[in-house]
Amino acid sequence: IQTEAETKLQDIADTKALNEWRVLYLGKKSEMTGLSKQMGQLEASEKPQFGQSLNQVRQALEAKWNDKREALAAAEQSARLMAETIDVTLPGRRANFGAMHPISKVIREIEDVFLGMGFLIADGPEVETDKYNFEMLNLPKDHPARDMQDTFYITEELLMRTHTSPMQVRTMERLAPQVPVKVLVPGRVYRRDEDDATHSHAFTQIEGLVVGEGIRMSDLKGTLEQFARALFGEHQQVRLRPSFFPFTEPSAEVDLICVQCQGEGCRVCKQTGWIEILGSGMVHPRVLDMAGYDSSRYTGFAFGMGAERVAMLKYGIPDIRQFYQNDLRLLSQFATI
Ligand code: PHE
Repeated sequence: IQTEAETKLQDIADTKALNEWRVLYLGKKSEMTGLSKQMGQLEASEKPQFGQSLNQVRQALEAKWNDKREALAAAEQSARLMAETIDVTLPGRRANFGAMHPISKVIREIEDVFLGMGFLIADGPEVETDKYNFEMLNLPKDHPARDMQDTFYITEELLMRTHTSPMQVRTMERLAPQVPVKVLVPGRVYRRDEDDATHSHAFTQIEGLVVGEGIRMSDLKGTLEQFARALFGEHQQVRLRPSFFPFTEPSAEVDLICVQCQGEGCRVCKQTGWIEILGSGMVHPRVLDMAGYDSSRYTGFAFGMGAERVAMLKYGIPDIRQFYQNDLRLLSQFATI
């Protein structure tokens, strides 16, 4: 038995085979164990001799088994270590970093410019009341200009804000009678528009408001020029066109020169050379008075900018819908690493 077992043991190369070997030669049903059980049938004089031989064989096999076990464990460990070795000469795998969304990027950049001019940044509710979205902005219930903004109503009094201008009123009510008021309010607004290349039912506005003594239209223009140059470079031009808003008087729409302009083929400005990016004007005296600022003493200007428009111009994106489709081919271009 011993010779057979030892020969077999030499060929064993893994733990599983070693376990089988142990069961076969030393286990409960092994020949060895069988022999021990038969010992009872022997003459008393033969027992010690027989028992001793059995023990010797068993001990010898146990010892061999143990050696083999240790040898195998060592071999397996070194094989594992070999397999786990890191090849430092392999090329690295690049981690997948996200990118800031172009709209968030533009908002941050614009915030930076206005922070530099001493503005505070504020946030307002997207679900607004009729009072702040319209009435306090000089748009009473029967005012025809309400048709200008197709509104998502929630109840008769509650609606999705159609612009960030309600924050003009909320800010003034909070700060009155402190001056100067200088605040910038980025946020999402909602309109019942059909979505197309330049319209979206939800988009982003950035409201600006300045109130103080002796604030004039030229301050509005200077502020916007400063902003335009900071975002688009020293040579960016700003064009004011007369317009109308019930909450500003006089009112102006503001265009920027199309910096993406490829003349005939320009998809960003549709060959006009200019892009309208905001509505603005001198805060209407009634709006000042309703919000707690004496209009015989204070004046102010306000503007509401389309963040998507600014981003379209800055990054040459011809379709506003691309901002909301989360297409990685677009978004990954804004990765900074
Ligand atoms: N709220 C206006 C709009 O959404 C823009 C605007 C803001 C105009 C502030 C004048 C002053 O079209």
